[in-house]
Amino acid sequence: MTDDRKQDHIDLAFRSRPRSRFELGDLTYEPMLGHLSPIEPSEFSFAKAKMKLPLWVSSMTGGTEKARGINQNLAKLCGEYGLGMGLGSCRPLLDDKRWEDFEVRNLMGPDAPLYSNFGIAQIEELIAQNKIDKIIEITKRLEANGVIVHVNPLQEFAQPEGDRYKVAPLETIKRLLELMDFPIIVKEVGQGMGPRSLAGLVSLPIEAIEFAAFGGTNFTMLEQSRHQKTDSSKNELLAGLATIGHTPEEMIGWINAFEFELECQQFIISGGVYDPIRAKVLNDSLHYPSAVGMASQFLKFAMGDYEQLQAYAEDLIEVYLVCDQVLKG
Ligand SMILES: Cc1cc2nc3c(=O)[nH]c(=O)nc-3n(C[C@H](O)[C@H](O)[C@H](O)COP(=O)(O)O)c2cc1C
Repeated sequence: MTDDRKQDHIDLAFRSRPRSRFELGDLTYEPMLGHLSPIEPSEFSFAKAKMKLPLWVSSMTGGTEKARGINQNLAKLCGEYGLGMGLGSCRPLLDDKRWEDFEVRNLMGPDAPLYSNFGIAQIEELIAQNKIDKIIEITKRLEANGVIVHVNPLQEFAQPEGDRYKVAPLETIKRLLELMDFPIIVKEVGQGMGPRSLAGLVSLPIEAIEFAAFGGTNFTMLEQSRHQKTDSSKNELLAGLATIGHTPEEMIGWINAFEFELECQQFIISGGVYDPIRAKVLNDSLHYPSAVGMASQFLKFAMGDYEQLQAYAEDLIEVYLVCDQVLKG
């Protein structure tokens, strides 16, 4: 066995010279300071619940045949490893439909954070109709810790049937805070947000902000593929909208630079963050408590058996924990 290994070293040495290096930001590689023995992660409070690892399953699905099994797998994973989870848009529940896709608290157990999810357009409409109690009733029945509100103007614009807001989302969120005494997380859906939107949000008493930044799944692009027009010049004009956005790194830079006391001090860093090394670097470079969120990456493995998702998550967590030991701020 040792002979084989020694022979492999000789054979592979010339093919084992990395051409690039991971950009570690403010962190440095410190092989003298950590260890590799198994670690039992300790619990910490986040988003009004308890987590064991700073990883979050970002909002995805509900309301289709496949969604139920996907949500059940994801919820079970979050319960087993102490991760947080946002449900996909709970809009069908407003019509009292498809509860079975979303009722996953029993699989998750009582501790890990679980959030319901509604679009800002539905919130605006329910406020106008004086029916915001519906959101509270649904969130309570799901035994969720609070409500995620997604703000997605460009995705809506890319859909012919998309919602058009009448009020700026920041104003709707302020009104929601007056009407509802429940934790609220606000997110984009894959294009992030600039410093003035962030400054507005962190000045509100919301529970957390999820970046859903530019660099991963992009729903404006996705809607454009769903609604290809026959007029190709119109397609080109619309395609530009999918290229707008801000990366997690940009958003972290703006938040760290705010010179006032933030009302909201918890963040979920997400949007194209699939690499555990990058997850560790981003989590550590933000000066406030944070978790890293992933949507499509978890989805890839959540569509089949639970064991497949579990195997992926265990590898992801293992690499994250190694980085935790050897990368220091
Ligand atoms: C299949 C799918 C469905 C999604 N549905 C929702 C949704 O209902 N509500 C929401 O807030 N975000 C939704 N998202 C957006 C994600 O929460 C996330 O912000 C975005 O995909 C970027 O993360 P990623 O690059 O890790 O995929 C969805 C994403 C995927 C992949």
